[in-house]
Amino acid sequence: MENIQQLIQSAQEEIKTATDLVAVENLRVKYLGKKGLITALLKQLGSMSPDERKQMGPIINGAKQELQQLINKTNQALTTAQLAASLAKESIDITLPGRKQTVGTLHPITKVRQRLEELFVSMGFDIATGPEIEDEFYNFEALNIPAHHPARTTIDTFYLKDIPYLLRTHTSPVQIRTMQKQGVPIKTIAPGRVYRKDSDATHVPMFHQLEGLVVDEGVTFSDLKGILNNLLESFFERKVELRFRPSYFPFTEPSAEVDLQCTLCNGKGCRVCSDTGWIEILGCGMVHPNVLQAVNVDSERYTGFAFGLGIDRFAMFRYGINDLRMMFDNDLAFLEQFY
Ligand code: PHE
Repeated sequence: MENIQQLIQSAQEEIKTATDLVAVENLRVKYLGKKGLITALLKQLGSMSPDERKQMGPIINGAKQELQQLINKTNQALTTAQLAASLAKESIDITLPGRKQTVGTLHPITKVRQRLEELFVSMGFDIATGPEIEDEFYNFEALNIPAHHPARTTIDTFYLKDIPYLLRTHTSPVQIRTMQKQGVPIKTIAPGRVYRKDSDATHVPMFHQLEGLVVDEGVTFSDLKGILNNLLESFFERKVELRFRPSYFPFTEPSAEVDLQCTLCNGKGCRVCSDTGWIEILGCGMVHPNVLQAVNVDSERYTGFAFGLGIDRFAMFRYGINDLRMMFDNDLAFLEQFY
C-alpha cells in the first residue's frame, strides 16, 4: 500500500519535471505501457482475494487515470511551450528595411546616342559604323591630312605597336568607308568610340562621337545650319541659339565650330560654360573637294557637308553633369539616376 502511494508520487513528480515530449512518452511507457509499473499492479489484481481486490482496485485504477490525465496535461503544456519557442525563433523583424530589387538601366551615354540616332533617322539619315582600329589612310590621308601635315601632330594618336594601325581619333574615317561602299548621294551618321591621349575633367582617352555626312548635288552650308538647328532644338526640347565660329579642319572648307548658348544659364555665364555663355558642341564644314576625290566622287558635280559631335558632351549638358569622368567610373549610385 505504501509502496503504491510512493510509486504514484514519484511517477507524478517525474512527469511534472519532464522537459520534452519524448521524456513524457518514455514515462508513459514506464508506468502505463504494456510492461509498465502501474500496468503490472493492475495485472496483480486478478490474483488478489476479493477483499483485497475491492480495496486496491479503485486505488490502482484511480492512479492510472490520474497519471494519464497528468501526462495529457503535460504533453499539452510542452507542445504549447515548444510552439511559442519556435515562433520566437522564426519571427521576422518587419521594421527592417526591405531588400531592393534593382532593375538594369541603359548607360546615360547609350541613351543619348539612341536619342540622337532616332532624331537623325527621323530626318532621313542612315546609320553606319566603322572599325575602331584604323589605318593612316582612313584616319588621315583620305581626309586630306597628309603625312607631314601639322594636324597629325596636334592630335595625340594612340598607335598600335609594330603594326601600321592606330585607334581612330575621330569618326571621320567612316565618311570615307561609307562613300567607298555606297557612293553618293549619301545622307548618313556614324556614331562610335574614338581615342585620344587626353585626360582631364572634360576629356577622357576614350569618348564618343557622332559623325554626319550629307553629299548630293547642290548641298549648301545653309542645309547644314538647318539640320543642326533642327537637331539641337529637338534634342534639348527648346529653342536654341547657335553660333558658327570660323575654324579649321583639313577635311572641310569652309569649316566651323558650333557653339550652343549655354542651356544652364541661358548665356549669362556659369560654371558649366566657363562664364562665356557658350558651349562648344561640334565641328563641321563643307566636305573638302580632296576628300571627295579620294573616294572618286566628282567634286564639280557634288557638294556636301560633314559634322562631328561629341555624344558625351551632349549627355553632360542634357543631364547637367560637369565632370565627364563620372560617366566612366561605373559608380552605380551615379548611374542609377538615369532612368
Ligand atoms: N573630326 C573632327 C574632330 O574630331 C570633327 C569634324 C567632323 C569636323 C566632320 C568637321 C567635319 O574634331
